[in-house]
Amino acid sequence: MRSRFRTKVFIAALGAASVALLVGTLLVSWRARDEQRNQIRARLTNEAELVADLLGHAPGLRSADELDGEADRLSRYMAGRVTFIATDGRVVGDSTQTPAELTQLDNHANRPEVMDARGTGLGVSQRYSTTVGADLMYVAVRTTHPMVAYVRLALPLTTVAGQISAMRSVIVAAMTATIPVALVVAWLFSAPLGRRAQAIAAIARRYAAGDMAVPAYDYGDDELGTVARALDASARELARRVSELTRDRARMEAVLSGMVEGVLVVDRAGHLQTMNGAARTMLRVERPDLGRPYLEIIRHPDVAAQVAAALEGHSPRRREFSMVVDPSRTFVAGAAPVAADGGGAVLVLHDITDLRQADQMRRDFVANVSHELRTPLTAIRGYVEALLDEPDTPEHSRRFLDVIGRHSLRMERLVTDLLRLARLDAHQEPIELASCDVEQLLTTVAADLEPTATAKGQRITIHVDDAARRVQADPGKLHDILRNLMENAVNYATDRTEISVRATPVQGRIQFVVSDAGPGIPPEDLSRVFERFYRVDKSRSRPGGTGLGLAIVKHLVELHGGEVRAENRPDGGARFIVLI
Ligand SMILES: Nc1ncnc2c1ncn2[C@@H]1O[C@H](COP(=O)(O)OP(=O)(O)OP(=O)(O)O)[C@@H](O)[C@H]1O
Ligand SMILES: [Mg+2]
Repeated sequence: MRSRFRTKVFIAALGAASVALLVGTLLVSWRARDEQRNQIRARLTNEAELVADLLGHAPGLRSADELDGEADRLSRYMAGRVTFIATDGRVVGDSTQTPAELTQLDNHANRPEVMDARGTGLGVSQRYSTTVGADLMYVAVRTTHPMVAYVRLALPLTTVAGQISAMRSVIVAAMTATIPVALVVAWLFSAPLGRRAQAIAAIARRYAAGDMAVPAYDYGDDELGTVARALDASARELARRVSELTRDRARMEAVLSGMVEGVLVVDRAGHLQTMNGAARTMLRVERPDLGRPYLEIIRHPDVAAQVAAALEGHSPRRREFSMVVDPSRTFVAGAAPVAADGGGAVLVLHDITDLRQADQMRRDFVANVSHELRTPLTAIRGYVEALLDEPDTPEHSRRFLDVIGRHSLRMERLVTDLLRLARLDAHQEPIELASCDVEQLLTTVAADLEPTATAKGQRITIHVDDAARRVQADPGKLHDILRNLMENAVNYATDRTEISVRATPVQGRIQFVVSDAGPGIPPEDLSRVFERFYRVDKSRSRPGGTGLGLAIVKHLVELHGGEVRAENRPDGGARFIVLI
C-alpha cells in the first residue's frame, strides 16, 4: 500500500513536471515562430519597397529580357525571390525564371498579396508553394514603372522551421537532463506522505480489529490530516453506536428469553428474524434457523395465515389453536404488522392451557354444586308446601313458610339456569332443527306472560311478516330465547306500556325484534348484559332476576349460528334483536 501511494505521488509529480516542460516548449516555440515571421515580414516589406522605388526610377527598362535581368540582379541583394507583375497580372520578370519560362507562368492577378496591393498598396500572404515545396511568405507592393505594376518578394520559411526545431532540441535536451532530477526530488518528497498514509492505515486496521484506543499519532494539519481526523471521528461515532446497538440487542434478547409469551419476528419477505425460547417450545421448533421462511417454522395453517395477514399490513383477530403433536395444549396467537424498519410482522403466542383448565374446573365445580343443591332444595320446597297445606299451621308460621318458599323457588330457578349453562358449555344440548310456526310460538309465549303483563297494565303486540311465518330452528330453544327476551321486556318496562314483538325476513334469515317502552339500558351496559350474573341495577332485588337469562339466550342463539344484540330505541326503551 505504501509503495502504491508513494508511486502515485511520484508519478503525479513527474507528470506535472513533464506537462509543464511540454507546455513551456510549445508556448516558447509558438511565440518564437511568430516573432520570426513578423521580422521576416518587416524585412520583406522594406526590401519590396526599395525594389519598387529603384524600378520606378528606371523607366527605361522595357523589354522582357531587360526586366527579367533586373529582377535577377536585384535578387542578389535581397533575401528571396523577386517577381515583377504587370497591371493585368502577367509576370514580366522573375529572379528564378528565364524570360522564356515567364510566358508559361500563371497569371498572378488573383494572388492574394497582389489583390491586397492593388487595393491598399501592400499585400502580405503566406502559403505553401508547390514550385518550391515549402511554406513561403509573399509581400507585394505597387511601383510607378510604366511596364510593372507590382513588385513581389517571396521568402521560404524553411529557415524559421529550422530555427524552431533547433530550439525544440535544446528544450528536449534540457528536459532529459531535468527529469532525473525531478524524479529524485519527487521520490524524496513522496516518502513522508507514504509513511503518513501507512501510519493512518495501521490505525484504521486496529480500529477494524476492535481496538478503539485513542492513537498517539499526530495526523498533521494538511488535507491528509483533516481527512484522517474526520474518518477517525466517524469511526469512533460508529463504534459508539454499534456498542449501543449491541447493548440494546442483548437487553432485548434477555427480555424476550425471559418472557412466558412466545415471540416471533419476520421481516417483510417473511424470513425469520427472531424467535424466543417460549415460541420455540410452543411451536416445537428445536433449532430455529434465522433467515428461513416462516412457513417452514410455523406449520399450523391458522397461525401462518395470521402472519400472512400481518405482512399485508392487517391486524388479524387473535386465534386459538392447538398443535397436532400435542392437542392437550391450547394457545392464542396474535399477529401484528411492524410499521418501522421496512415492514414485517410480529407474532405473539400465549399458552392458555392452564387458564382453560382452571375455567373448566370452575365450570365443573358450579355444575356439581348446582347438581348437589337441587335435591335438598326440592325437599325443602316439598315440606314447605306440605306445611302450608296443613290447616293447623299458625298464621305467623305461614308468613315465614311463604318467605322460605319464595326464596327456595328462586334458588331452584338459579340452580336450573346454572345447570343449563353448564350443559350448554359442555355442548350437551344438541340442536334439533325443525320448521317452526313463528306466529304460534310467539302467541304461546305471550299467553304465558299474559297474567304478569295484565297485572302491570301492559299490552303485548305481535307482528309476523308473511315471509317470516316459518323458521328453521330448534323449537324448544327458540321458545326459551323469545320467552327470556319477552319476560325481560315485561319485567323491566314500566306499567301501562306496549311491548312489541316483530318477526321479519332479513337476507335469508329471520329477525326477531323485542322492543319495549321501558327505561332502556344505559349505553355502557349494552354490551355487558349478556354476561353471566350481569344486572344493570345491582341493588334491585326482584324475585327471579338472577342475571343468567340473557347469557342463556346468547348461548342458544349462537348454537343456531345466529346473532343477538341489545340496543336502545331512539324514543326510549330497550330493543333486543335476534337473527336466526
Ligand atoms: N328490556 C329490558 N329493559 C331494561 N333492562 C333490561 C331489559 N332486559 C334486560 N335488562 C337488564 O339486563 C340485565 C340482565 O338480564 P337477564 O335476563 O340476563 O337477567 P335477569 O332478567 O336479571 O334475570 P333472569 O332473566 O335470569 O331471571 C337485567 O338485570 C336488566 O338490568
Ligand atoms: Mg331475564
